[in-house]
Amino acid sequence: MPTKLDMARFAKFCKDMGFIFQSSEIYGGINGFWDYGPLGVELKRNIKEAWWQDMVRNPPPGPDGQEIRMVGLDCSIIMNRNVWVASGHAAGFSDPMVDCKLCRRRFRADKLYVGTRLANPSAQIEAVHSVEADDRAQAKELLDAFFTKLYKKRERSDHPLSASANQYVHTITEYHSHGFTALIPCPISECKGELTEPRAFNLMFESHAGPIKSEDNLVWLRPETAQGIFANYKNVLDSSRLKLPFGIAQVGKAFRNEINPRNFTFRSREFEQMEIEFFCHPDESMKWYEYWRDLRKKWYSTLGVKSEKLVPREQGKEELAHYSIGTTDIEYLFPFSDEPQELEGVAHRGDFDLSAHAKHSGKDLSYFDEEGWNNLLQSRLTPFKDDKNRTPDEIKLREEQKKQLEKDEKPKFSFVPHVIEPSAGADRFTLAVLCEAYTEEMVKDAKGKEEPRIVMKFHPRLAPIKAAIFPLVNKDGMDEEAQRLYRELKASFNVVYDQSGAIGRRYRRQDEAGTPFCITVDGDTMKDGTVTIRDRDTLKQERIPKAEVRARIEAMLRPGA
Ligand code: GAP
Repeated sequence: MPTKLDMARFAKFCKDMGFIFQSSEIYGGINGFWDYGPLGVELKRNIKEAWWQDMVRNPPPGPDGQEIRMVGLDCSIIMNRNVWVASGHAAGFSDPMVDCKLCRRRFRADKLYVGTRLANPSAQIEAVHSVEADDRAQAKELLDAFFTKLYKKRERSDHPLSASANQYVHTITEYHSHGFTALIPCPISECKGELTEPRAFNLMFESHAGPIKSEDNLVWLRPETAQGIFANYKNVLDSSRLKLPFGIAQVGKAFRNEINPRNFTFRSREFEQMEIEFFCHPDESMKWYEYWRDLRKKWYSTLGVKSEKLVPREQGKEELAHYSIGTTDIEYLFPFSDEPQELEGVAHRGDFDLSAHAKHSGKDLSYFDEEGWNNLLQSRLTPFKDDKNRTPDEIKLREEQKKQLEKDEKPKFSFVPHVIEPSAGADRFTLAVLCEAYTEEMVKDAKGKEEPRIVMKFHPRLAPIKAAIFPLVNKDGMDEEAQRLYRELKASFNVVYDQSGAIGRRYRRQDEAGTPFCITVDGDTMKDGTVTIRDRDTLKQERIPKAEVRARIEAMLRPGA
C-alpha cells in the first residue's frame, strides 16, 4: 500500500465492496454520517466483539497478576440534563469556531491555519492567507504553494519558503493571541469574505423529550458513553457487590455536532465508542494508568495493526482536558495524514467525575473499604485471652479502642475512587483496520502469469467472512457436497457459498472481501473426503480432510492466535 492512500478512491472501493456507504446517499448524503454495508457491519461487529471479549469478559491479569473485575452496561442515549451540567459538557463542551462573514461557512479555529508574509522586521503584515488542514505540516505545504504562486505573479522571490512551519504558520487561535490584527480571508478560494474572531460552539445535538418544544424539555444526545457509567456507578456497586479495583465498560453511540467532519469516517457526527471507566484507590491510580495505557496499545497490535504505525503520545500539560491528571493518546498513522491521529485516549480522570456527580445529585458516591477497615480492627484491638470466656474488662477495653479508631482511622477508609478511562472509537478503529488491510499487489495466476490483485489482509478475528466454500464445478455431486459443508460451518461461523464463475474469479472476490480461507470441494473430495484450503495471504493451497476444516477455522479465531 502506498503511504498516502487516495482517500476518494479508497472510499469508492469501500462503497463498491459494501463496507461503508454515505448515509442517505440517494438524497445527496448528509455530511458526517455513514452507514455500514453488508461487509462493513460484520467487520465493525467483530471489532466490538473482540473488544468486549478481550477487555470485559476475559481481560488479561492486572499489574500484580490479580484477576481484573469488569462488568458491562448499556445506558440510554438521552439522559437527565443534569448529567451534562455536572460533567461540564453543558457549559464547556465546545470548540473554538470562526465564521465567514460572507459565505457563512463555519470552521474550527484549531484546524484553520493562517500564513502571514511580513513586509518588514517591524512585523507589518503584507499578505495573509488561510487554509484548512489537519496539521501544521500539511498547512505549510498548502501555504507555501499559495505564496509561491502569489510572489511569482508579483515577480518577487522573497517569500518565506524557507521559514519553518512554526515561524509563519499559525492556527487562528495562535494568530489572535500573537496580537496580529490583519483580517483573515475565508479559506474557500472562490469566496472573498473575511472571518470572525474565534467563538465557542457547543457540540451537543439538542432535542426535546415530550410533545412540547420548550426550554424545560430540552435534552441532549450523549456526546460520550462515559457519563452513563458514572451516573450508574452506585447502581452497579450496590447490585453487583463489586470491590475496588473494578471496571465498568460500555459500547454505544455518541453524537457530536462536529463543525468539520472529515477524512471519511475519521471525524463523524454520529459514531460509536468503546469505553471503560476503571475505578481504583487513589494511591494505586498511576499503576493502573500505566497498565491500561500499555495494554490498550498492545491490543491494537494483536489485531494486526503494525506497531510502527501505532504511536502512544503523552499529552502536554496545556492539552489536558480540565478533569485529567494525565492522558496518553494512542495514535495511528492514517494514510490521509503525515502525522499520527488519535485512535483512543487513555485518561487519568482523578475523582473529577464522581465528585462532580456527587455534588450535583446530592448522592454519596464515596467508597468504603470494608475489608481494609476490618483488617485494621483485627490488627489494633487487643485480642481476648480466651475467646470463649471473654471478661467484662476485656470487652470494655476493646469497645473503647474501637471508638477511638472509629474517630481517628475510619474516615481514611472512605474515599472517592480515582478513574482511569481507556476510551476508544469503534468507527475510528474500523477505519484504521480497513486502511491497514488494504493491499495492492502482484500475484501469479494459475498459469504463472503476473496479475494485480486487491486483497484486504484483515486479522482473521476481524475478517467479515471467515471462509468461502466452493464446488470446483457444479456437477458430479460436488455442489451438493460443498453445500453440505457450507451449511455445517454456517451454524458456527460467517461463511459464504459461491458456485458462480471461474475459480480464479471466485478467489479474487474473496480476496477483496478479506476472507482468510477458501475451501474447494473437487473430484478428490468425492473419492477420499479431502478438500483444498487456500490461504488468502500466502496463496498456498493445502489438501486436508473435510472433517478438519472446522478446527482450522477455530484455531485462527482464538484470541492471540
Ligand atoms: N470519554 C472521553 C472521550 O469521549 P474523546 O477523546 O473525546 O474522549 C474518545 O473520544 C474516542 O472517541 C476518540 O479517541 C475517538 O476514537 C472517538 N471519537 C471522538 N470523536 C469522534 C468523532 N467525531 N468521530 C469518530 N470518532 C470519534
